[in-house]
Amino acid sequence: MSDQIVPSFAVKTAPADGVVVVFAEEGPKLSAKARALDKTSKGVLSKAAKITGFKGKKEQTVDLIAPQGLKFARLVLVGMDKASACSSEDWLNLGGTVRGLLSGREAPNAHIFLETASGDVKPADVASFALGAQLRGYTFKKYKSKAQKKNSKSTKTNEQTLKKIVVHCADPKAVSKAFAPDRAIAQGVTLARDLVNEPANVLGPAEFAARAKMLSRRGVQVEVLGLAALRKLGMNALLAVGQGSARPSHVVVMQWKGAGAKGGEPIAIVGKGVTFDTGGISLKPAAGMEEMKGDMAGAACVVGLIDELATRKAKVNAVGIIGLVENMPGGKAQRPGDVVTAMSGQTVEVLNTDAEGRMVLADCLWYAQERFKPKAVINLATLTGAVMVALGKEHAGLFSNNDKLANWLIEAGQATGEKLWRLPLGPKYDKMIESKVADIKNTGGKWGGSISAAQFLQRFIKEKMPWAHLDIAGTAMSSVDSEINRSWGSGFGVRLLDRLITQHYERRT
Ligand code: BES
Ligand code: MN
Ligand code: ZN
Repeated sequence: MSDQIVPSFAVKTAPADGVVVVFAEEGPKLSAKARALDKTSKGVLSKAAKITGFKGKKEQTVDLIAPQGLKFARLVLVGMDKASACSSEDWLNLGGTVRGLLSGREAPNAHIFLETASGDVKPADVASFALGAQLRGYTFKKYKSKAQKKNSKSTKTNEQTLKKIVVHCADPKAVSKAFAPDRAIAQGVTLARDLVNEPANVLGPAEFAARAKMLSRRGVQVEVLGLAALRKLGMNALLAVGQGSARPSHVVVMQWKGAGAKGGEPIAIVGKGVTFDTGGISLKPAAGMEEMKGDMAGAACVVGLIDELATRKAKVNAVGIIGLVENMPGGKAQRPGDVVTAMSGQTVEVLNTDAEGRMVLADCLWYAQERFKPKAVINLATLTGAVMVALGKEHAGLFSNNDKLANWLIEAGQATGEKLWRLPLGPKYDKMIESKVADIKNTGGKWGGSISAAQFLQRFIKEKMPWAHLDIAGTAMSSVDSEINRSWGSGFGVRLLDRLITQHYERRT
C-alpha cells in the first residue's frame, strides 16, 4: 500500500554505492566513516562543512551531489547533536529525518553508516533508527491512478525511485534481532494509517469489519457481530447511532491469547469506529466535514495494535473490541430528545446526535467488562473537538480512574513520543451529564466538553475496574507533519500501547 522500504542491515565495511549517508556530532566531530570519506575525497566533506557553517547540529546537513574523488551519486553528512544524550525517541526521529532526505532520485540504493563520532550505536538504537526510517517512508497512494502516476513522473528530471536502504552498523545480527519487534510495530502502524486514510465510501462498518477479520490469518480469534447479535445483546446506544445509515453497524471482537491460560484475564482495548460522522440530525457544518472519515481512528489503532501483538507473538492476553457505525441523518435516524436504553441498563437522553462516539463506546465498554472481566480497560476515540481546544495536536487527552495505569500510560507516551496529558474527572463534572428525563444525557453543556464526554464513558465502567480513556481527536487524524509521519492518519496509539504492554502486561518468560 505504500513505498515503505524495510531497511536491511550490513557490517560497517560492506561496500556502498548510490547515496551514502554519514554522521557528525556537534563540533562538528565526524564519525570514522565520515572522516575516511573526507580523506579519500581530499577534504571535500570538511571543506563543504566549513563553507555551509555545518556544526553537527540536529537537522543540519551537508549535501553533496557527485562528490569529487568518490564514486557515489550523493554524499550526505547529517548532524546528530550529542549522541550520548540521544533517547530512543531521538534515534527514531533521526531515522525519520534521514529517510526524509532520500528521494531515490539520484540512485535507487541508499547506504547509511550509522555511527557516532566516538564509535558504534547500540543495536536497540539502530533498530529505533530503522523503525523511524521505515515509518517516514509511508505514503497513501492507493487512489493515484496509473495514468496520473505516469503524468507526474514525466514532469520530473529523473524517474528513479528509492529501492533499497542499507543501514551499516557494528553488529547487524544483533540489530536484526532488536529490529524484529519493530518490524511488527511498523506493520501495525501502517495498517492503522491505511484504515484512517481510507475514504468512507470504501470503508463502511462492514468493510472495516472485513479488514479486521483478516487478523485471523495471524492467529487472532476474530468474531464479527452483526445487527441481530447486537440487538440480542441489547447494544441499543450503539445501534441508535447507526440506525440512520443504510450500512448496518458491526462490532468486532479480536482475541490474542499470547500468554495462554497462565496469563489470566486479558487487557481490553476498545476503539471508537465511526466510519463517517456527519453529526446525524444534529448535522455538522459542511466545511471540513470530509475529515470525519477519520472518526474511526480509535478502532484503527486497536486493529493495528492487535495485528502487531500477534505478529511479534507478544506474551500477553489482549482483546480488542471495536464499535463500527456510520452516523448519518435520514428517515430512520435517531432524533435529539430520543431516550435509549444502553446494554448496561442505563437510559440515555440523546440531546445531540453528534455526540455519538460516547454512545458507541458505552455499549462496547460494558460488553468488554461483562464478557471478559479484563485486568484493565483502555479505550481510544476521536471523541471531542474540545480536546484540541485544550491540548492542540501535541498531546492526546488522558482520563483515568487509576493513577498507576495513568502514570504507566504517561511514561509510555514520553518514551514513544505519542504524548498524553492527563485531564481531570470528578463528581462535580459528573453532574454535567445528569438528565431530567433519563439516567444521563449525552452532552454536558458548553464548557469542559472533553471532560463531560469522559464522565459519560465512566458511567459505563464498573466500580473497581482500572480504566483509561484516550481522546485522540487531535493526534490521530489530520496530523501535523513529524519526522516519522507525513500521512493524514498518523496511526497514533499503536506504538504507545505496544510500549505499555511490553513494560507492564507482558509475561517475561
Ligand atoms: N467525532 C467528533 C469529534 C471530532 C471533532 C473528532 C473534530 C475529530 C475532529 C465527535 O463525534 C463530535 O462530534 N463531538 C462533538 C460533541 C458535542 C456535540 C457535544 C464535538 O466535539 O463538538
Ligand atoms: Mn460527532
Ligand atoms: Zn464522532
